[in-house]
Order: sequence, then C-alpha cells, then structure tokens
Amino acid sequence: MKVELKVNGQAVTADVPPNTLLVQFIREHLRLTGTHVGCDTAQCGACTVLADGRSIKSCNTLVAQMQGAEITTIEGVAAADGTLHPVQAAFKEQHGLQCGYCTPGMVMSTIDLLKDHPKASEQEIRELLEGNLCRCTGYQNIVKAVQAAQQAMGA
Ligand code: FES
Ligand code: FES
Repeated sequence: MKVELKVNGQAVTADVPPNTLLVQFIREHLRLTGTHVGCDTAQCGACTVLADGRSIKSCNTLVAQMQGAEITTIEGVAAADGTLHPVQAAFKEQHGLQCGYCTPGMVMSTIDLLKDHPKASEQEIRELLEGNLCRCTGYQNIVKAVQAAQQAMGA
C-alpha cells in the first residue's frame, strides 16, 4: 500500500506491505536508526517517536495508521545547525544515560511530557516516564536531566 507522511519535516511516500510497523519503516526503510527496538511489545519505550507532536510507541503502530501525520524521530529534534534540543543537552550535561539504548525514547517522551507538565515535580516526572524503561542508570540522572531541561526551557 502507498503511504504518505512527513518525517522530520521531509515528505515521504512509499509502497509498503500493510502490516509494516512504524518502527520498521523508520529504521529499515528510512534508515533512521536512532529509534531503537527494545522489547517489541510496547513496554520499554525505546521506540518512542512523536506523531503530530505527541509521543507514541512506534513498535505497536502501523505506518498505515500514520497517513498524513508528521513524525519526529530523535534525528529531527536538534536544530539545523546541530545545536542540541534543550532536552538532549540536559541529558548530556546531567549524564542521564549510560549505554544510551533507552535515551532516544527518553528524550522523545520528555519533550512531550514537558509540553503538558512543564513544572512536574520529581515524583510526577518519575510517573510520567514510567513507560520508558532504563536498565542502566537507576533513573536518578534521568530525572535530574528532565529537571535541568525544565529549567532550561523556562519552567
Ligand atoms: Fe517499542 Fe519497547 S520496542 S516499547
Ligand atoms: Fe542503558 Fe538506559 S542507559 S538502558
């Protein structure tokens, strides 16, 4: 089937099998491999992207469901000149990662959660990120990174 959508601001048209997952499309068709697959069962959040500005898990979404949508992946959040998004910069500065496998999904989820919850407390941040699992950090520096991003973004 033919799909038409935008990914990181670029119009994309492709013929794909109707059962193509969004994460497969992003990684295998578009070769945007910053979006990771951790569990493939919508539990870990490694595959999180933005669809029309809201975070979704791309491993349980068909690309066919995204006709006409604007998808943003981790490759699309920095400025055109390479300046990191404040959330990316905060994760870097606060060492909010170890192996980095969960990080793209954490960043995408954080960008979305800060839209609705710019002043979220530490406890709220922990609850809002519960759909994103990290097996390395113990979460403390991830929470610090989100708090630093809150500051940087003017909360
Ligand atoms: Fe999608 Fe884990 S790979 S939630
Ligand atoms: Fe390794 Fe989160 S930094 S899984």
